[in-house]
Amino acid sequence: MPKKKMHIAQFLVHGPTYHSLAMWRHPKSEMTKDNWARPELYQHIARTCERGMFDMVFFADLNYISDTFRGSLEPALRYAVQAPEHDPVPLLSYMGAVTSHIGLGATLSVSHHHPFYMARLWATLDHLTGGRAAWNVVTSVNDNQAANYGAEREPTDTRYEKAGEFIDVCQQLWNSWDEDAVVMDRENAIFTDSTKVRRIEFEGEFYKSRGPLNVIRSPQNGPALLQAGTSPKGKALAAKYADAIFAIQPHARDAAAYYVDIKGRMEAIGRDPNTCKILYGMQPIIGESEAEAAEKQEFHNSLVPEDGGMAILSAHLNFDMSTLSPDVEMASRTEPELQRMKPRYTKPSGGSYTAREIATRHGQSVSLPQFVGTAKSVADQMEAFVDTVGGDGFMISPIYCPGAIEEFVDLVVPELQRRGLFRTAYSGTTQRAHLL
Ligand SMILES: Cc1cc2nc3c(=O)[nH]c(=O)nc-3n(C[C@H](O)[C@H](O)[C@H](O)COP(=O)(O)O)c2cc1C
Repeated sequence: MPKKKMHIAQFLVHGPTYHSLAMWRHPKSEMTKDNWARPELYQHIARTCERGMFDMVFFADLNYISDTFRGSLEPALRYAVQAPEHDPVPLLSYMGAVTSHIGLGATLSVSHHHPFYMARLWATLDHLTGGRAAWNVVTSVNDNQAANYGAEREPTDTRYEKAGEFIDVCQQLWNSWDEDAVVMDRENAIFTDSTKVRRIEFEGEFYKSRGPLNVIRSPQNGPALLQAGTSPKGKALAAKYADAIFAIQPHARDAAAYYVDIKGRMEAIGRDPNTCKILYGMQPIIGESEAEAAEKQEFHNSLVPEDGGMAILSAHLNFDMSTLSPDVEMASRTEPELQRMKPRYTKPSGGSYTAREIATRHGQSVSLPQFVGTAKSVADQMEAFVDTVGGDGFMISPIYCPGAIEEFVDLVVPELQRRGLFRTAYSGTTQRAHLL
């Protein structure tokens, strides 16, 4: 039986580091003080990923500079720990303008906005991109972000309950226009058939909205929805609404358990498990030989300062890692904030990683596993991961830019295509069509 085809998303950040703190220091990135922010670079990335037939380019996003590590902004600013980070949403229009097929996704937190604005923004983006928009719905975890919006961070369960209601409001607003509402009948002076546009009169526990939306129904009727939660409520939200889930599961055994968990939750609520794709994060490091790839990995990893790793881990955990000894065994820690990443603390062979080891890896790749080797061997590792885990594909993160994405597209994609593991042409033009 032929193997199922993989889905591939390019993981990005609108900043100088993406998901490797080495990136801005890496000589191959040729980064200057301001060229990392130029829109032409992102247009080049979009074109390159479209040449590689990727499902989408996708931006993570945070609305803060973290002072979680040592209570100071200095480590985040000094090491460019996802700081600066410009808003990725305007880039989607830029990237959409020079491409015709690739999906265009970005993260926007529901914690500090109203659903009406988000429904309007994403419907507009879906129009501007011809149905290629994708929205990663997150509920922000870090106190710095809440403080920037003058708020207190809410408990995880409340944030996800609000997120569910938030999406319900958006979906009702997207549905408030029928597909054929605009008739533009010049003779009878009817632009819109008013019987085909409705108020929604939404009154929930957290949000109210009268509607209708003032944007006509978009090509996908709202963007494709992405999610990346790991808590039980986060997984429940993803299972209910997401078209694709991004997961960071460095160990195949945990990735397999996550996959079964999500698909089981979908079945339990009557959703076809195939309608949500689970993409696992990984960081490819490709060389002409195994030795060259290993050397590239060593050099890249050596550019990540330990304190930078501690700072990014502290931000993502919302926990000050300077309060622990770097040699402490992470698997035995009981602090509630540390539990979210708990599966990552145990070595595949058993035993615990130290805080230093976890932080270093987080600085290198936000804990994405590194797939290192020749193009053939990276393709082998991808194939083996999917075989073991049953996942639907990968979200990949470059170690330098430009350059690393091009290597993957030019060397690994053809290898996957030769094996029948990846598409050789797009069969549709919308984000949801690529994810089928
Ligand atoms: C692959 C991946 C990407 C994420 N990207 C973002 C992001 O860009 N912005 C953000 O605020 N949170 C991001 N998150 C955090 C989660 O969406 C979620 O808010 C966080 O993990 C806390 O929820 P949880 O306890 O359900 O995991 C990401 C998580 C994962 C696994």
